[in-house]
Amino acid sequence: MSIVITGNPGVGKHTITHKIAEMMKLSIVDINEVARDSGLFEQNDDTNDVDVEELEKILKQKISDKDIVVGHLAPYVLRKNQIKIMIVLRRSPYDLIPVYNDRKYSERKIRENTGSEILGVIANDAINRLQEKVFQINVSGKTISEVTKNVMRVIMENEGSEEVDWLELVRKNNDLGKFFVD
Ligand SMILES: Nc1ncnc2c1ncn2[C@@H]1O[C@H](COP(=O)(O)OP(=O)(O)O)[C@@H](O)[C@H]1O
Ligand SMILES: [Mg+2]
Repeated sequence: MSIVITGNPGVGKHTITHKIAEMMKLSIVDINEVARDSGLFEQNDDTNDVDVEELEKILKQKISDKDIVVGHLAPYVLRKNQIKIMIVLRRSPYDLIPVYNDRKYSERKIRENTGSEILGVIANDAINRLQEKVFQINVSGKTISEVTKNVMRVIMENEGSEEVDWLELVRKNNDLGKFFVD
């Protein structure tokens, strides 16, 4: 069973995965890389559609206990019996916007991804499929080394999941229109 790091684009998955892999002497399996190398991505405008059933089959052969698995598709392409623990990194939508601007995402892609983070789509889907194996860590306001420490603690102690509610924050700031309405 593997340690899995997931969350929306830009939350810091790859940054944190590299730190944890180094500390725990694990090798990294990047789900997007596997999908790309297997020719499973279909390019549509600026979104990538992927054959999740096929990806699930391929990953079943690829993953061992010595791997840490990273990718935003993790909750949709891994079986519960492959997962030791799944950590969903959560990052404020206000912190994601500059990351997406740096990546030159389109307005539409920014909306989709901040919207998904605000609603907690990946976290909710993960919890629905994998229940007690899922832990959330809020990365906003923390340094990379603080996040790494929190993630390590969750892995070692199986506790320390954080409550995250960006919707409440966005509502309080009167920014629902900024993120959800044209
Ligand atoms: N805890 C953090 N605090 C500040 N910046 C961070 C943190 N974690 C990651 N970053 C930065 O955020 C950006 C996105 O990180 P990355 O690891 O590429 O995310 P992902 O793999 O989820 O898309 C990078 O520029 C990275 O250096
Ligand atoms: Mg990444």
